[in-house]
This record gives sequence, structure tokens and C-alpha cells, in this order.
Amino acid sequence: MSIIETENLTYTYPSGTKPSIRDVSIKIDKGEFVLITGPSGCGKTTLCRCFNGLIPHFYQGELEGEITVAGLRISEQPIYEMAKHVGLVFQNPENQLFALSVEKDVAFGLENLGAPREEMRKRVDWALNLTGIYDLRERAPHELSGGQQQRVAIASVLAMQPEIIVLDEPTSFLDPLGAKRIFEVIYDLNRKLGITVVLVEHRLDLTARYANHIAIMDDGKIVLDGEPREILSSEQARLIGVGIPKPTRLYQILRKDRVNLSNTVPLSSDEMAAMLREALKSQ
Ligand SMILES: Nc1ncnc2c1ncn2[C@@H]1O[C@H](COP(=O)(O)OP(=O)(O)OP(=O)(O)O)[C@@H](O)[C@H]1O
Ligand SMILES: [Mg+2]
Repeated sequence: MSIIETENLTYTYPSGTKPSIRDVSIKIDKGEFVLITGPSGCGKTTLCRCFNGLIPHFYQGELEGEITVAGLRISEQPIYEMAKHVGLVFQNPENQLFALSVEKDVAFGLENLGAPREEMRKRVDWALNLTGIYDLRERAPHELSGGQQQRVAIASVLAMQPEIIVLDEPTSFLDPLGAKRIFEVIYDLNRKLGITVVLVEHRLDLTARYANHIAIMDDGKIVLDGEPREILSSEQARLIGVGIPKPTRLYQILRKDRVNLSNTVPLSSDEMAAMLREALKSQ
């Protein structure tokens, strides 16, 4: 059963002269880890705004097509109702943080849901620890660096433990190591708690390994949608200019040179290393 389903979704912003997403039909199953990628301006953020009802309830404009999330038709639900099911981490963390302290920001969503005090305390501490910002809990969010603010925005959404987490380039201000730690945490929650994850990201070297579903957008449309190993090794993905993971490219080159490697396309250097070790052993 799909937890997110859009059918021929086309949307134009009030100030727009042409649609920012066009004819987007995608099905996301419960528990999937979906990666959405594509060139700048292709409509990734706009699609995320449809997943939690910001479009059409906050951004008016013209919306055609259907969208159902967690069994609810978005057009019929207010944003606060959708927020119980979908947590969205914005591309720009500044837009998401407004409380006087990190702790208050992370607690905000739970407070709104009327969570009991004790439970709230536990969940806030859990989220602060997971994202590595426990020591910053009394600081004012606007005084923090971009990377620290991103951690706060992620913690705020994790604390709610929604069924679906949508993250729009959530670690763009973090260095690769910091970003990797965050992705590991999200992957862990996806596997252990079955939370459905939709991650917008162009650094596929860092993220492709976690995904079991990838959608590539170009000029407002979804042009490729399916299994990451298959899609990232396709010629079409390379031509669109998405950052194919280096191990995947290397694998393709070696296969072209008729090097005898297994049929499973690697998505990370760890997978590539394991494959080469096997190949060398059998020589
Ligand atoms: N609030 C808005 N009002 C009007 N047009 C917008 C708005 N937000 C985005 N757009 C336009 O919609 C199109 C898609 O933008 P969007 O931000 O969804 O792309 P994106 O894939 O997220 O890009 P990036 O990789 O740079 O984040 C662009 O042409 C952009 O200028
Ligand atoms: Mg964007």
C-alpha cells in the first residue's frame, strides 16, 4: 500500500508563468527510503511542499491532480492535520527555527500535540542526543552556525517521530562526515522504526547506499523512478547530469573493459571494495 501517492500533479506558483512541477505521478510505499534528486530548479522543493500540504494551503497558485498522504487527501486536510503524519525538514533551516532556545524549538511540535511533560522531556533529549546537539540545548538557534541549525531542524522533526519524514537537502551546511552521521541516524530510524523517509539530495555518493527507491527529476517532471542500482547505472541518469556515485561509475567502466565483476551494481566505496576483493580472490 502506498503511503504517498500523487497522480498527474501539476503546480504553478502564484507568481509563476509556467508550472514548477508537471504531471508528477509517484507512489511511495510505507517504510521506503526514497531519494529524490535532479538539477537545481527542477522542482524538488516544490514537490516536498506538496507532500505536507504547504502546497496548496500555504502557497496558493494553481494545483491540478491528486495527492494522498497517509490515506488523507491533502486538498481536504489543514496543514496542522498533515503535520501529525509528515515531518518536513526545510532546505533552509532559518525558516524553520523561531524559539528562544534549541530545546524549545525541538519541543515545539510535541507541545502542540499536547504530549505529556515526561514523555516530551524524554523525546527531546533523545532527538538532541541523536543529532549531536545536546550541549547546545540552551543556546539561541539564531546564534548557531548553518550546520548546527540544520541539526536543530532535524531534531525538531525526529522528536515528533512522524510516520513520514521528508528532508529537503537537510545537511547542505554540514561537512561530509557530519552529514554522514546524520544520514546514518535517519537510515537507522527508517530500518528500526519503519519510518518512511523521503530525502532530497544531490550528494549521491553520500546517500545512494541508503535508498531502496530513487526518483530523478528534470524540468518539473519525474524522468526516472525505480530501483537505485538500475537507475544510477543507466545512461539516461548520466546524461541528466546527476552526480552518479563514483564507485558506480568505476564499476561501469570496468564492466565495459570486460573485467569480471558480479552483477550487483555498487553504490558505495564499501560495496565496491567488497566486490573487488571477491574478484581478486577468484583470480
Ligand atoms: N515560492 C516560489 N514562488 C515562485 N516560484 C518559485 C517558488 N519556489 C520555487 N519557485 C520556482 O519553481 C521552480 C522549481 O523550484 P524548486 O525550488 O522546487 O527547485 P529545486 O529542485 O528544489 O531546486 P534546488 O536544487 O535549487 O533547491 C524554479 O523555477 C523556481 O524558481
Ligand atoms: Mg530545493
